[in-house]
Amino acid sequence: MLKHLRYCQYVTFVKKNPIPRLDNNADKLRQRILPHCRLKPGDIWRDPESGHVVGCGDAASTGFIVELFGSDQAVLAVHDPPYNLVMFRKRSVAEFIDWCRRWVDNTCRVLADDASLYVWLGADQNNHFQPLPQFMAMMAETEFKSRSFVTMRNQRGYGTQKNWMAVRQELLYYTRGNPTFEVQYTDIPKILRGYYKEVNGVTTENIERSKSANIRPGNVWVDIQQVFYRMVENVSGCYGQKPLKAVERIIRSSSQGGGEDTVTDFFSHSGTTLLACERLGRRCITLDIDPIFAEITIRRLEHFRRTGATGWQAGNPFEKELATLSQIPVAGIAASA
Ligand SMILES: C[S@@+](CC[C@H](N)C(=O)[O-])C[C@H]1O[C@@H](n2cnc3c(N)ncnc32)[C@H](O)[C@@H]1O
Repeated sequence: MLKHLRYCQYVTFVKKNPIPRLDNNADKLRQRILPHCRLKPGDIWRDPESGHVVGCGDAASTGFIVELFGSDQAVLAVHDPPYNLVMFRKRSVAEFIDWCRRWVDNTCRVLADDASLYVWLGADQNNHFQPLPQFMAMMAETEFKSRSFVTMRNQRGYGTQKNWMAVRQELLYYTRGNPTFEVQYTDIPKILRGYYKEVNGVTTENIERSKSANIRPGNVWVDIQQVFYRMVENVSGCYGQKPLKAVERIIRSSSQGGGEDTVTDFFSHSGTTLLACERLGRRCITLDIDPIFAEITIRRLEHFRRTGATGWQAGNPFEKELATLSQIPVAGIAASA
């Protein structure tokens, strides 16, 4: 009983202490978590319930991608690679673009003839906006057609004193063939009134003529909350988590439900695309090069199935293991997204 009580107290303590970001600066914490990750590099987990697939491997490795997919094809890819900015391991732009070309080629191999590709990308405003223009030029040499350049507005930004606060998040949309596209609507009500037109001899106001009382997001998304630690969907330890609402919007518009369509994401991290697929009745094939993020991806799905929660809010995906290890409190507030 006493032991149980101590355990509960510790769990409560951990829940108020999200783990810090699990990249290369968190070596000690990573060493404690790694033994609890079920995938080693090259391993593949197959979900017995909905047929999702999670791999631990390199998006640029053709051998690994071919093994991961087998004879499967996806109708939609939603990729969110490291952006080559200071917060990620930085390389020369040419090297970064070469690497991108390799995973874009791999994407081509596993997409259906009629398919969509979305790529989240940053632009370094202090360095000629790299790697965005170079990436766009590289894509112009592929078989993909450009369709839209979406900007999502973050709520928090940086560089506010001597520059325009940087709050934009870029999302490139490409297609090949003739894939599905379903118009989406925001939660924002239409406010433009008094826009009359005569239809079949009757004068109608624009609201009466439209399919929805809400506005369309267009290609500037201002209605999505950036993930932060008070949100249920927050996965502490993750430093680049995308909002579920944004990924669900992409999946709803560019694939169909009912379990037939497969969606892929080569840079899974917190598993947002996998979770969105689970919620929307799509199958997901995803991977991450880091065994810890591949494990978090699987745990997020299992946690959702067990509890209905989309993340751990101010807790973390390794609460049980960290509680039973050396009882060293985990310091730091997660800086997700
Ligand atoms: C920006 S995060 C993706 C965030 C994700 N969209 C989410 O919502 O959680 C990029 C991820 O790519 C992974 N990654 C980096 N290089 C990779 C590679 N060569 N192959 C596969 N994954 C890689 C990193 O480990 C990291 O988890």
